[in-house]
Amino acid sequence: MQLQIDSRQVHLWHLYVPDQDAPAHEEAMALLTPEEREKHGRFRFARDRRRYLMTRWLIRSLLSRYAPIAPRDWRFETNAYGRPRIANALLQAKRLRFNISHSASLIVVALTVEREVGVDVEHTARAAPLEIAQQFFSADEAQALRQLPAELQPSRFWDLWTLKESYIKARGMGLSLPLDRFSFSFEGAHEVAVGFEDGLDDSAARWRFWQLQPDNAHAVALCLECVQPEGVQLVCWKASPLLASVEEFQSAVTRRSPGG
Ligand SMILES: CC(C)(COP(=O)(O)OP(=O)(O)OC[C@H]1O[C@@H](n2cnc3c(N)ncnc32)[C@H](O)[C@@H]1OP(=O)(O)O)[C@@H](O)C(=O)NCCC(=O)NCCS
Repeated sequence: MQLQIDSRQVHLWHLYVPDQDAPAHEEAMALLTPEEREKHGRFRFARDRRRYLMTRWLIRSLLSRYAPIAPRDWRFETNAYGRPRIANALLQAKRLRFNISHSASLIVVALTVEREVGVDVEHTARAAPLEIAQQFFSADEAQALRQLPAELQPSRFWDLWTLKESYIKARGMGLSLPLDRFSFSFEGAHEVAVGFEDGLDDSAARWRFWQLQPDNAHAVALCLECVQPEGVQLVCWKASPLLASVEEFQSAVTRRSPGG
């Protein structure tokens, strides 16, 4: 099934990593480049190998649903900070942008047309390393977190972590962007806002954010560049391990930034 995406949409794909190798394991292995094959072989644990293989397979198979290029023919290049981009010459392919994130059991891929995009998924059913916020997040974020009742701090920490990570991934610059120079704040139950210090040379109007909860153990944040004033439609999809089935997925949007 071919899929359409236009420049007013962002598609967010979810794939749960299977507990066993998928039946078409060899088919997926055949898609790996020699470098990817080598990296695959270096993972110590079968689960990490499986997640790596599923990620490589997912991105190639997904992209082929949006542009007439076979999964094995996608080419990627990375910027100086490691962000992969499509390197195929075909215009329909080159216009696509994507970003990948994975936790141990969930892979997410955000896909857009000619807009920067960043996504982060975290496994939230584990202890939140709150001290990271005090050390690396902005002073306002750290203070707001400290002032919350103790039982609310872990989920607010994961909110901040995923949002900040989605932004640095959309910028494609990784941790070279100082995490303490931009801040997220939360308005009521459903809104999130971002602010930048002058040195970061960025503005809140350039970005939209969404927070989603695909299940009880994961938090996702999505950051999308706004190149047009009109609204953007977020469409969530769930893929089965071999893309045998593709379905729209009602991942709960828990918060969004104004205009999102
Ligand atoms: C590499 C980094 C972009 C994301 O790392 P991460 O959170 O460990 O991993 P995620 O699963 O979310 O994302 C990994 C994917 O991002 C993509 N990626 C790599 N470098 C990227 C970059 N500079 N910009 C955007 N995306 C990038 C890749 O597709 C990668 O997946 P792949 O190797 O399977 O292709 C970077 O932000 C980092 O090192 N983060 C460390 C975590 C941290 O301390 N975060 C601060 C908390 S706010």
